[in-house]
Amino acid sequence: MKILVTGSCGYKGHVLVPKLLAKGHKVVALDTQWFGSYHQSHQNLNCVKGDVRNIESIPFDGVEAIIHLSSIANDPCGDLNPKLTWEVSALATMQLADQAKRRGIKHFIYASSGSVYGVKEEDQVTEDLELKPISEYNKTKMVSERVLLSYGDDMVVQIVRPATVCGLSPRMRLDVSVNLLTMQALSKNKITVFGGDQTRPNIHIDDITDLYIFLLENPQVTGVFNAGFENISILDIAKTVTKYIPVEIEVTASNDPRSYRVNSDKLLATGFRPKKSVEHAVREIIEAYQKGELKDEDRFYNLKWMEKANLAL
Ligand SMILES: NC(=O)c1ccc[n+]([C@@H]2O[C@H](COP(=O)([O-])OP(=O)(O)OC[C@H]3O[C@@H](n4cnc5c(N)ncnc54)[C@H](O)[C@@H]3O)[C@@H](O)[C@H]2O)c1
Repeated sequence: MKILVTGSCGYKGHVLVPKLLAKGHKVVALDTQWFGSYHQSHQNLNCVKGDVRNIESIPFDGVEAIIHLSSIANDPCGDLNPKLTWEVSALATMQLADQAKRRGIKHFIYASSGSVYGVKEEDQVTEDLELKPISEYNKTKMVSERVLLSYGDDMVVQIVRPATVCGLSPRMRLDVSVNLLTMQALSKNKITVFGGDQTRPNIHIDDITDLYIFLLENPQVTGVFNAGFENISILDIAKTVTKYIPVEIEVTASNDPRSYRVNSDKLLATGFRPKKSVEHAVREIIEAYQKGELKDEDRFYNLKWMEKANLAL
């Protein structure tokens, strides 16, 4: 199958695209390449440096499925330039869906976010709860979901609300909790935790990328799915890291109240099973760092890099 992957040079895209190629798919990998591109050349890979907003420039010919990952991918980055955030993360999603319908592309997989729920009091956050997104980033995800669901009669629409992703990628992100805390221990010999008791769900990068492939292979599974399998506190993540790197954990006051437990029973009922844990991610990051394959670099922090390179203009 020929698949268009937007945001293909991001943290998830760099793990997903090689998996798709290994399965024999052809991939059109569209990305502005803000954080670089580390894909190895492959006869079935067409890397296109381009902007998802320039819909006419996207080579849709022969594309049978879209996996839409591109966005201004976290709260502080989304706040840098809300107009850009809405254009990239919401408007372009609608334009992609519109093109898919016009071109007879029958399969659309969307990377939404578990953050669409906002702050929830409920013990278990299930897909049917009211969405109360807080940031521009979360709001674009909520609106994109509704837009895509309106195309449900035209194509298979599969929407995933992933928890925070952890683990290694050739385009690493060190601004996501497990990766951040592990790198703090490695490069600063100390972990600083804001608040600490906020419970957050997590998912390993191998599981979230396997999930997109599972959905591609299971078009009968449609709708919206939470995808988070370990609901643990930030302090417990820090303690997991200190099992391997015994450093001090400093707990300071937090201004981020979000605490939630995602329930992924609906996804598990489809037959999908995660294979990895937060602890796998911690161990993999430590090993890569100790081998000299991973360093603490600015380009691995979305906000720092977007500000440094003036990407939000
Ligand atoms: N990483 C997580 O913890 C997490 C959790 C939930 C949801 N998500 C969502 O999954 C998706 C992928 O996340 P990620 O962690 O790989 O993020 P990322 O920031 O590493 O990747 C996003 C990619 O989109 C590209 N991009 C940005 N604007 C673009 C544009 N206008 N046109 C084309 N490409 C553009 C960037 O260059 C980047 O490579 C995002 O939509 C994100 O919101 C991520």
